[in-house]
Amino acid sequence: MHALQQLLDNNRRWSAGRIAADPGFFSRLVHQQTPQFLWIGCSDSRVSANVIIGVDPGEVFVHRNVANLMVHTDVNCLSVIQYAVDVLQVKHVIVCGHYGCGGVTAAMTNKSYGLIDNWLRYIKDLYREHSAELAAIDDAEARNDRLCELNVARQVANVCYTGVVQAAWRRGQPLAVHGWIYGLKDGIIEDLAVTIENADQLEAIYRFKA
Ligand code: CO
Repeated sequence: MHALQQLLDNNRRWSAGRIAADPGFFSRLVHQQTPQFLWIGCSDSRVSANVIIGVDPGEVFVHRNVANLMVHTDVNCLSVIQYAVDVLQVKHVIVCGHYGCGGVTAAMTNKSYGLIDNWLRYIKDLYREHSAELAAIDDAEARNDRLCELNVARQVANVCYTGVVQAAWRRGQPLAVHGWIYGLKDGIIEDLAVTIENADQLEAIYRFKA
Protein backbone atom coordinates (compact mmCIF):
# COMPACT_ATOMS: atom_id res chain seq x y z
CA MET A 1 0.00 0.00 0.00
CA HIS A 2 2.95 2.28 0.52
CA ALA A 3 3.39 2.85 -3.21
CA LEU A 4 -0.25 3.85 -3.62
CA GLN A 5 -0.17 6.13 -0.59
CA GLN A 6 2.80 7.83 -2.19
CA LEU A 7 0.68 8.61 -5.26
CA LEU A 8 -2.13 10.06 -3.17
CA ASP A 9 0.35 12.13 -1.18
CA ASN A 10 1.86 13.40 -4.41
CA ASN A 11 -1.60 14.36 -5.58
CA ARG A 12 -2.40 16.36 -2.43
CA ARG A 13 0.89 18.20 -2.74
CA TRP A 14 0.32 18.90 -6.44
CA SER A 15 -3.20 20.21 -5.85
CA ALA A 16 -2.06 22.48 -3.03
CA GLY A 17 0.81 23.77 -5.14
CA ARG A 18 -1.48 24.59 -8.05
CA ILE A 19 -3.91 26.46 -5.82
CA ALA A 20 -1.07 28.37 -4.19
CA ALA A 21 0.27 29.44 -7.58
CA ASP A 22 -3.13 30.17 -9.11
CA PRO A 23 -6.16 30.18 -6.77
CA GLY A 24 -8.64 30.11 -9.70
CA PHE A 25 -7.00 27.18 -11.51
CA PHE A 26 -9.45 24.42 -10.60
CA SER A 27 -12.58 26.56 -10.48
CA ARG A 28 -11.94 27.62 -14.10
CA LEU A 29 -11.46 24.02 -15.23
CA VAL A 30 -14.62 22.84 -13.47
CA HIS A 31 -16.76 24.94 -15.80
CA GLN A 32 -15.26 23.98 -19.13
CA GLN A 33 -12.45 22.39 -21.04
CA THR A 34 -11.43 24.05 -24.29
CA PRO A 35 -8.43 22.10 -25.53
CA GLN A 36 -7.08 22.96 -28.97
CA PHE A 37 -5.41 19.59 -29.39
CA LEU A 38 -6.34 15.94 -29.55
CA TRP A 39 -3.41 13.66 -28.78
CA ILE A 40 -3.39 10.05 -29.97
CA GLY A 41 -0.35 8.42 -28.42
CA CYS A 42 1.13 5.19 -27.12
CA SER A 43 0.21 3.82 -23.69
CA ASP A 44 3.93 3.53 -22.89
CA SER A 45 4.54 4.96 -19.40
CA ARG A 46 7.46 7.00 -20.71
CA VAL A 47 5.38 8.96 -23.21
CA SER A 48 3.04 10.92 -21.00
CA ALA A 49 1.32 13.52 -23.20
CA ASN A 50 0.92 16.51 -20.88
CA VAL A 51 4.39 16.06 -19.43
CA ILE A 52 6.36 15.86 -22.68
CA ILE A 53 4.61 18.79 -24.35
CA GLY A 54 4.57 20.81 -21.14
CA VAL A 55 0.89 21.68 -20.93
CA ASP A 56 -1.50 21.95 -18.01
CA PRO A 57 -4.69 19.99 -17.43
CA GLY A 58 -7.37 21.34 -19.77
CA GLU A 59 -5.09 21.90 -22.75
CA VAL A 60 -4.96 18.56 -24.51
CA PHE A 61 -7.62 15.86 -25.02
CA VAL A 62 -5.87 12.50 -24.86
CA HIS A 63 -6.38 9.02 -26.24
CA ARG A 64 -3.67 6.41 -25.76
CA ASN A 65 -3.40 2.77 -26.74
CA VAL A 66 -0.60 0.32 -27.43
CA ALA A 67 1.42 1.60 -30.40
CA ASN A 68 -0.82 4.65 -31.02
CA LEU A 69 -3.14 2.98 -33.52
CA MET A 70 -6.29 4.41 -35.11
CA VAL A 71 -8.17 1.30 -36.14
CA HIS A 72 -11.36 2.01 -38.08
CA THR A 73 -13.41 -0.52 -36.07
CA ASP A 74 -12.24 0.78 -32.70
CA VAL A 75 -15.31 2.50 -31.27
CA ASN A 76 -13.25 3.85 -28.40
CA CYS A 77 -10.80 5.79 -30.57
CA LEU A 78 -13.53 6.80 -33.04
CA SER A 79 -15.65 8.18 -30.20
CA VAL A 80 -12.73 10.18 -28.87
CA ILE A 81 -12.11 11.66 -32.31
CA GLN A 82 -15.78 12.42 -32.85
CA TYR A 83 -16.19 14.16 -29.50
CA ALA A 84 -12.94 16.08 -29.91
CA VAL A 85 -13.73 17.26 -33.44
CA ASP A 86 -17.50 17.81 -33.27
CA VAL A 87 -17.99 18.99 -29.70
CA LEU A 88 -14.66 20.34 -28.45
CA GLN A 89 -13.76 21.53 -31.96
CA VAL A 90 -10.05 20.90 -31.58
CA LYS A 91 -7.97 22.44 -34.36
CA HIS A 92 -5.19 19.89 -34.33
CA VAL A 93 -5.02 16.13 -33.99
CA ILE A 94 -1.54 14.90 -33.14
CA VAL A 95 -0.66 11.26 -33.63
CA CYS A 96 2.52 10.87 -31.61
CA GLY A 97 4.51 7.67 -31.79
CA HIS A 98 7.85 7.02 -30.20
CA TYR A 99 11.10 5.37 -31.16
CA GLY A 100 11.73 2.05 -29.45
CA CYS A 101 7.99 1.33 -29.21
CA GLY A 102 7.55 -2.10 -27.62
CA GLY A 103 4.38 -2.75 -29.60
CA VAL A 104 6.20 -2.13 -32.87
CA THR A 105 9.14 -4.25 -31.75
CA ALA A 106 6.83 -7.11 -30.79
CA ALA A 107 5.04 -6.93 -34.14
CA MET A 108 8.37 -7.35 -35.94
CA THR A 109 9.00 -10.74 -34.33
CA ASN A 110 7.28 -14.13 -34.46
CA LYS A 111 6.82 -14.29 -30.71
CA SER A 112 3.27 -14.47 -29.36
CA TYR A 113 2.28 -12.18 -26.50
CA GLY A 114 -1.31 -13.40 -26.19
CA LEU A 115 -4.43 -11.40 -26.93
CA ILE A 116 -2.45 -8.33 -27.91
CA ASP A 117 -1.18 -10.19 -31.00
CA ASN A 118 -4.53 -9.30 -32.59
CA TRP A 119 -3.99 -5.60 -31.99
CA LEU A 120 -0.41 -5.71 -33.21
CA ARG A 121 -1.53 -7.44 -36.42
CA TYR A 122 -2.07 -3.97 -37.93
CA ILE A 123 1.63 -3.28 -37.53
CA LYS A 124 2.54 -6.64 -39.02
CA ASP A 125 0.47 -5.70 -42.09
CA LEU A 126 2.36 -2.41 -42.29
CA TYR A 127 5.68 -4.25 -41.93
CA ARG A 128 4.75 -6.53 -44.81
CA GLU A 129 3.68 -3.60 -47.01
CA HIS A 130 7.04 -1.91 -46.44
CA SER A 131 9.14 -5.06 -46.25
CA ALA A 132 11.47 -4.07 -49.12
CA GLU A 133 12.37 -0.73 -47.54
CA LEU A 134 12.73 -2.23 -44.08
CA ALA A 135 14.81 -5.20 -45.23
CA ALA A 136 17.34 -2.77 -46.72
CA ILE A 137 18.04 -1.32 -43.25
CA ASP A 138 20.81 -3.43 -41.66
CA ASP A 139 20.67 -2.07 -38.14
CA ALA A 140 17.84 -3.64 -36.14
CA GLU A 141 17.22 -0.52 -34.04
CA ALA A 142 17.13 1.72 -37.11
CA ARG A 143 14.72 -0.72 -38.77
CA ASN A 144 12.47 -0.60 -35.74
CA ASP A 145 12.64 3.19 -35.67
CA ARG A 146 11.67 3.39 -39.33
CA LEU A 147 8.62 1.19 -38.76
CA CYS A 148 7.66 3.44 -35.84
CA GLU A 149 7.71 6.39 -38.27
CA LEU A 150 5.76 4.52 -40.94
CA ASN A 151 3.21 3.55 -38.31
CA VAL A 152 2.67 7.19 -37.31
CA ALA A 153 2.17 8.19 -40.95
CA ARG A 154 -0.35 5.37 -41.45
CA GLN A 155 -2.32 6.35 -38.36
CA VAL A 156 -2.42 9.99 -39.48
CA ALA A 157 -4.00 8.77 -42.71
CA ASN A 158 -6.38 6.51 -40.79
CA VAL A 159 -7.61 9.47 -38.73
CA CYS A 160 -8.26 11.38 -41.95
CA TYR A 161 -10.15 8.49 -43.53
CA THR A 162 -12.85 8.78 -40.86
CA GLY A 163 -16.20 10.28 -41.76
CA VAL A 164 -15.91 12.57 -38.73
CA VAL A 165 -12.76 14.31 -39.96
CA GLN A 166 -13.94 14.55 -43.54
CA ALA A 167 -17.32 15.98 -42.48
CA ALA A 168 -15.48 18.64 -40.47
CA TRP A 169 -13.47 19.62 -43.55
CA ARG A 170 -16.61 19.72 -45.71
CA ARG A 171 -18.27 22.21 -43.37
CA GLY A 172 -15.13 24.37 -43.41
CA GLN A 173 -13.93 23.59 -39.91
CA PRO A 174 -10.15 24.09 -39.70
CA LEU A 175 -8.58 20.80 -38.70
CA ALA A 176 -5.05 19.54 -39.27
CA VAL A 177 -3.82 16.04 -38.45
CA HIS A 178 -0.12 15.79 -37.64
CA GLY A 179 2.38 12.96 -37.17
CA TRP A 180 5.05 13.34 -34.52
CA ILE A 181 7.60 11.00 -33.02
CA TYR A 182 9.18 11.14 -29.58
CA GLY A 183 12.70 10.01 -28.77
CA LEU A 184 12.99 8.06 -25.52
CA LYS A 185 16.74 8.75 -25.50
CA ASP A 186 16.59 12.54 -25.52
CA GLY A 187 12.96 13.48 -24.85
CA ILE A 188 12.78 15.34 -28.16
CA ILE A 189 9.70 15.28 -30.40
CA GLU A 190 10.20 15.50 -34.16
CA ASP A 191 7.49 16.53 -36.60
CA LEU A 192 7.46 13.87 -39.33
CA ALA A 193 6.00 16.39 -41.82
CA VAL A 194 3.06 14.17 -42.76
CA THR A 195 0.39 16.72 -41.87
CA ILE A 196 -2.95 16.38 -43.64
CA GLU A 197 -5.42 19.27 -43.53
CA ASN A 198 -7.84 18.66 -46.36
CA ALA A 199 -9.40 15.76 -48.24
CA ASP A 200 -7.48 16.57 -51.43
CA GLN A 201 -4.38 15.17 -49.73
CA LEU A 202 -6.00 11.75 -49.41
CA GLU A 203 -5.87 9.00 -51.99
CA ALA A 204 -9.05 9.32 -54.02
CA ILE A 205 -10.66 6.07 -52.95
CA TYR A 206 -10.77 7.23 -49.31
CA ARG A 207 -12.53 10.53 -50.00
CA PHE A 208 -16.22 10.72 -49.10
CA LYS A 209 -18.68 12.92 -50.94
CA ALA A 210 -21.31 14.83 -49.01
CO1 CO B 1 4.93 2.37 -27.63
